[in-house]
Amino acid sequence: MVANPTLLFPERNGQTRGATSERLLAVENVNLEYRTRERIVRATHDVSFDVYGGDRFVLLGPSGCGKSTLLKAVAGFIEPTSGRISLDGQTVRGPGADRIVVFQEFDQLPPWKTVLQNVAFPLRVAKKLSRAEANERALHYLEKVGLASFAHAYPHTLSGGMKQRVAIARALAMQPRVLLMDEPFAALDALTRRKMQEELLRLWDEVNFTLLFVTHSIEEALVVGNRILLLSPHPGRVRAELNSHQYSQDSFGRGDFQRSVARIHHLLFEETEAAQ
Ligand SMILES: Nc1ncnc2c1ncn2[C@@H]1O[C@H](COP(=O)(O)OP(=O)(O)OP(=O)(O)O)[C@@H](O)[C@H]1O
Ligand SMILES: [Mg+2]
Repeated sequence: MVANPTLLFPERNGQTRGATSERLLAVENVNLEYRTRERIVRATHDVSFDVYGGDRFVLLGPSGCGKSTLLKAVAGFIEPTSGRISLDGQTVRGPGADRIVVFQEFDQLPPWKTVLQNVAFPLRVAKKLSRAEANERALHYLEKVGLASFAHAYPHTLSGGMKQRVAIARALAMQPRVLLMDEPFAALDALTRRKMQEELLRLWDEVNFTLLFVTHSIEEALVVGNRILLLSPHPGRVRAELNSHQYSQDSFGRGDFQRSVARIHHLLFEETEAAQ
């Protein structure tokens, strides 16, 4: 549980809560550090949160507050110096097919494989599907992201947004327990970014997955997330946990949306008042 959550959009019972009552991911009192020869950099301090089945859980905080480090720890690439991360009650001890990451970079697809091969390959390796089964499932998810007609194209012939769609299809095809996304739309132009946020929500509706999403954009957090964890500047500590159920793309210009953005900005950056 998060200590003293500040509730921006309180639920009926005054507690933030997940989309279902099934707790998938538990992050408990996690400290993360980088040890270089010269010094130790503490990336996060005593961070705790729970992700429930069907959540769109967002980690929101300024640059350098440890969002990517936290996501890497959940993915199993980094081990906490203290605290515990568990999935379905089992301590995370390394990477696994139950947690797939979509990164910001457009070069996450091997360029020598076609779109279809990119999506199908991990299914054959990690899920042990036959070529025919893997191709069938890959095509199904490529259809979901609107790219079935590009199945035989190579990544370098695609736009940035299309590459991110392939990366999303590849991740969803693995049917992970939690889909991890680290600023997946940050390198896209503003219009494409909005479109991708919309598509992600549509996919979530259709495919029904659990999402842990990292961003430093307050607007993106409000649109994408149903729950938002606010992290303080470096080293990241939990500042507040919020619910955000009522916003969509259409909310952008609205007064209540802008007030929520201002409120979160205040919570993130004006420490004394936020701590009260
Ligand atoms: N490989 C590394 N070695 C040493 N320190 C690192 C390393 N990677 C990150 N850090 C430090 O850890 C802290 C958290 O970094 P992290 O990349 O997790 O932040 P972030 O919240 O994802 O930032 P951004 O929004 O800019 O992506 C920063 O102070 C950063 O300098
Ligand atoms: Mg980052």
